[in-house]
Amino acid sequence: MNEEQRLENQQVESTNSPDKKSTEDYSKYFDKVMTAPSLKDAKQRGKEEVKYQNDFAISEEFRGMGEGRKFYIRTYGCQMNEHDTEVMAGIFMALGYEPTESVEDANVILLNTCAVRENAENKVFGELGHLKVLKLEKPDLLLGVCGCMSQEESVVNKILKTYNFVDMIFGTHNIHRLPNILHDAYMSKEMVVEVWSKEGDVIENLPKVRRGKIKGWVNIMYGCDKFCTYCIVPYTRGKERSRRPEEIIQEVRHLAAQGFQEVTLLGQNVNAYGKDLEDLFNYRLGDLMDDLRKIDIPRIRFTTSHPRDFDDHLIEVLAKGGNLMNHIHLPVQSGSTEVLKIMARKYTREQYLELIRKIKAAIPDVSLTTDIIVGYPNETDEQFEETLSLYKEVGFETAYTFIYSPREGTPAAEMQDNVPMNVKKDRLQRLNSLVNESSAEAMKKYQDQIVEVLVEGESKNNPDVLAGYTSKSKLVNFKGPNSAIGKIVKVKITQTKTWSLNGEMIEQQEPVEVK
Ligand code: 5AD
Ligand code: SF4
Repeated sequence: MNEEQRLENQQVESTNSPDKKSTEDYSKYFDKVMTAPSLKDAKQRGKEEVKYQNDFAISEEFRGMGEGRKFYIRTYGCQMNEHDTEVMAGIFMALGYEPTESVEDANVILLNTCAVRENAENKVFGELGHLKVLKLEKPDLLLGVCGCMSQEESVVNKILKTYNFVDMIFGTHNIHRLPNILHDAYMSKEMVVEVWSKEGDVIENLPKVRRGKIKGWVNIMYGCDKFCTYCIVPYTRGKERSRRPEEIIQEVRHLAAQGFQEVTLLGQNVNAYGKDLEDLFNYRLGDLMDDLRKIDIPRIRFTTSHPRDFDDHLIEVLAKGGNLMNHIHLPVQSGSTEVLKIMARKYTREQYLELIRKIKAAIPDVSLTTDIIVGYPNETDEQFEETLSLYKEVGFETAYTFIYSPREGTPAAEMQDNVPMNVKKDRLQRLNSLVNESSAEAMKKYQDQIVEVLVEGESKNNPDVLAGYTSKSKLVNFKGPNSAIGKIVKVKITQTKTWSLNGEMIEQQEPVEVK
């Protein structure tokens, strides 16, 4: 691709919609804004160069835009979205806006959306229906849709046609353009749509307002090039782009210095970390973890892994323990080699089991969790049984389980499917029974044990009780002093449940002052 084509691709395809009140067919307009997910087009993208930028600044003309105004962001979906919300909150604050917890109180409302399954999308459309009432009461309210759904042509189409009271739609690569988008929305009576067709660059110095001071998220890479046949993420999040290790190390050091107790490294497929950093010789996730573990922060996690790139060096580094947590979330999706092949996961049941064997050999105390999809197009009973048997064979402690949801533009959505919905639901129920049983079993082992809990605050269900997580991500509720919040304390488990543990804090030894 020559420079001219590259720049053309990179152009911000930003435009205002036709008059909101008009009922004309918008299809021509969309062709200019974005294209539907296309595997063929997306696979061409590897050659595009990624630029690293460090020059984000609020331009003079936007300063004070938020004075006297409040923002509210509702986040759907994964941790990546949660973290994007922290960045958008940072930009709002830099513009002078104040945060609010109530939609009624807000002058700007953003829905940061998830596109991974249809019901995630339906929730957003439902919420837009509710917000319409508020918008009618408060015509000055700005309402925006961002996140993964806004990267889909069909969604933008639907919003323009059915939810034309929305003021802004912007994509996952346009977050740093928020000041300009807000400005355009204030100045225009028409819907502002800004979705880049090119996957974004890596922008390092965006402001962030982190939720809490105990656990922090750190992006290590963006996008995904795996193209599992069911998944919309490679289209909504773009191609794999790794952050430079020195930037990540600096961010983790900074969090440690601020007193954060835990970081979770984020990426759609963290095991591909470093593949695109051509100037660094084979610097991969294992090397990054090996560098990060030397930082004085008590807990380091990462999510989400793909078994394909989970290499021996990473296992070797994780086995060093210390602040690298002994919990690995390793999505398997199916226990059948045939289904895995149709999913384009690029590993077999046996290869997955072999990887698990290696991990357990190196880290005997490891806790393993996973993601599973049931009811893939044409999945047979036998293939589903293989998923159940793999679940037992690995001994997963818990799992996120889903019924396959067709996503427009993905290869799986084109497949004929002979599995009726009632069969899919039945399979999900059978799998969930196994997941519940396994979780309860795993929890029982903690009875009377002493565990280390990072205390996050009061329990959501009972303010008299504190709640936190063990190194293996088990939720623990216990009575203890508020001074324990933000610390890692020892708790003796007195009762085990399916999804959580109850316990008693063991008296903390006050450090003896030496005179
Ligand atoms: N249908 C159902 N589940 C899906 N996931 C991703 N795409 C789909 C889909 N189209 C699940 C996978 C993934 C998790 C984040 O969501 O299990 O690991
Ligand atoms: Fe989607 Fe994960 Fe597969 Fe990437 S690796 S395509 S994010 S399921």
